[in-house]
Amino acid sequence: MSDALAVDPRAVFAAGRLIALPTETVYGLAAPIDRPDLVARIFELKGRPASNPLIVHVGSIEQARSCVSQWPELAQRLAERFWPGPLTLVLPKAAHISDAITAGQPTVALRMPDHPLALAILNASPAPLVAPSANLFTRLSPTRAEDVRAVFEPADVEVVDGGPCRVGIESTILGLDIDTRTLRWLRPGQISQSDITAELPPGWKLKVISERSKEAIDVTPGRMQEHYRPAKPLTVVISERSAETVFSDVGAGWRLVSLPQEASAAARRLYRALREADQDHVARLGLCLPPCCLDQPPWEGVVNRLRKAASQWHDERALGPYRA
Ligand code: TXA
Ligand code: MG
Repeated sequence: MSDALAVDPRAVFAAGRLIALPTETVYGLAAPIDRPDLVARIFELKGRPASNPLIVHVGSIEQARSCVSQWPELAQRLAERFWPGPLTLVLPKAAHISDAITAGQPTVALRMPDHPLALAILNASPAPLVAPSANLFTRLSPTRAEDVRAVFEPADVEVVDGGPCRVGIESTILGLDIDTRTLRWLRPGQISQSDITAELPPGWKLKVISERSKEAIDVTPGRMQEHYRPAKPLTVVISERSAETVFSDVGAGWRLVSLPQEASAAARRLYRALREADQDHVARLGLCLPPCCLDQPPWEGVVNRLRKAASQWHDERALGPYRA
């Protein structure tokens, strides 16, 4: 057991409990890949459909290689460049990775998180750990230990407090299709498309598939149902005007949510800001975003999460001024 760790992961898992794992992106709800009972418990506690596959977290590249049946040169290159860090790679799975983890798919998603406590827990664990975000299905992801404690019972989950998450939104997910030498862009995060294209060797291409396409649904079953929703309805307005002007005629019962102007600061703040607003005694939330954010690579992840979180999306460039 590492000195930095106040808990012994083996003892927690032996007692039939899960670990809430701090990572640089969001907190995860972790269980060893070779404990089907605890893997099943994750789905049960989160209320997550079995069709939604889990990410396997590893403490080393060797551990990642032990979970796959093929490890192409490009996987090695991306892992060396971006791990530990907020990038998940989807590759053909090794036989011992269960269908419960992959939702029956022949592939497995892998990532090495960039957080000292996550790495210490992984190194002290009996096996790699599956870890979905530690939130209830469809709700806001947790970026602080308190967010996890507010939802899960201590009897079920040992929460390891690693402070607020540095990145604040979930990892970028890439699927490696070895036969066609295609990288599929499955979920945006802090690592952007341009970061990835800069690493592509000749012969490989990056394919961005629309989230609503049949291909996207086939490749990531379950993902279409995923949201990052506050409990209150959220209206996002795309506007050149200030939020105060856009929402000037809304009445009482609204709460405006504001984000920092710089993309990585906005990502770090996003779930926390929505969570705080959600806890106010208001009926609706409003957020305003300048149009330039929609086509700047560093904003890809935040815009993607906001699209899912919003119950109303009003782009003033197409629809004219927003009226509440
Ligand atoms: O940053 C993160 O990735 C966080 C932290 C805890 O590491 N984890 C996370 O897990 O976001 P989760 O369960 O909330 O999202 C995992 C998503 C799935 O919904 C699915 O879209 C994708 O990963 N996924 C997992 N396995 C896959 C596979 N074999 N093929 C394609 N997509 C997969
Ligand atoms: Mg999640």
